[in-house]
Amino acid sequence: MEKREQLYSGKAKSVYTTDDADVMVLEFRDDTSAFDGKKVEQLDRKGMVNNKFNAFVMQKLEAAGIPTHFIKLLSDTESAVKRLEMIPIECVVRNVAAGSICRRYGVQEGMDLNPPTFEFFLKNDALGDPMVNEYHIDSFGWATADQVARAKELTFAANDVLKAMFDQAGMVLVDYKLEFGMYKGELVLGDEFSPDGCRIWDKETRKKLDKDRFRQGLGGVIEAYEEVGRRLGISFD
Ligand code: TMP
Ligand code: ASP
Repeated sequence: MEKREQLYSGKAKSVYTTDDADVMVLEFRDDTSAFDGKKVEQLDRKGMVNNKFNAFVMQKLEAAGIPTHFIKLLSDTESAVKRLEMIPIECVVRNVAAGSICRRYGVQEGMDLNPPTFEFFLKNDALGDPMVNEYHIDSFGWATADQVARAKELTFAANDVLKAMFDQAGMVLVDYKLEFGMYKGELVLGDEFSPDGCRIWDKETRKKLDKDRFRQGLGGVIEAYEEVGRRLGISFD
């Protein structure tokens, strides 16, 4: 497989076509952004760490029966993925209250959400990724009812797998965001799963081990990502 031209460059990843129309290359860069791209910095090793982290998690999810776009690692910072037609909706599951849900509803960070709650956001930085509901998705034609139902089902299925995986490694999966797309008529998990798009706390100390360290200027961002990975058994050498 041969990498060809750049198709798209996002805030943290670039996407390239290949000689196979069904396959793309994802390049994980060191760029780190928050607040809809208003805060951007380069963090050394981040592209490599997130590429390997994502590969590990995507393979876990695939093994648990969740279809993903992941094909294989190509290099420290690149992976081959299936070329999906992306749905512009972000699916968020929250096991513990943190971030925007605390601001919106005036609840304290750290409150257990039982059962876990689910939210949709529109992927649109210019609008600040507003929260949307199933009626909006239907009326505006962002996805069909079947796609929405399947995305919800797969996002919750991922919670069962990932919550247990982090728990066994002494961590709490607070929340996470997934994005889906279509591949040959099937809804498939796309984008990435890394500490950039989820919240992970140490189970005992509740130390933040995810992108909140960057958002809140706490320092030790990549060190924390690597610690999470090491605890899960990922090698970053
Ligand atoms: P929030 O608390 O900012 O709504 O985010 C919830 C989780 O989803 C958090 O782990 C970050 C992730 N997320 C993204 O990675 N990108 C996004 O655009 C949004 C809205 C959430
Ligand atoms: N990933 C989004 C951004 O870069 C949201 C966030 O993580 O704060 O702006």
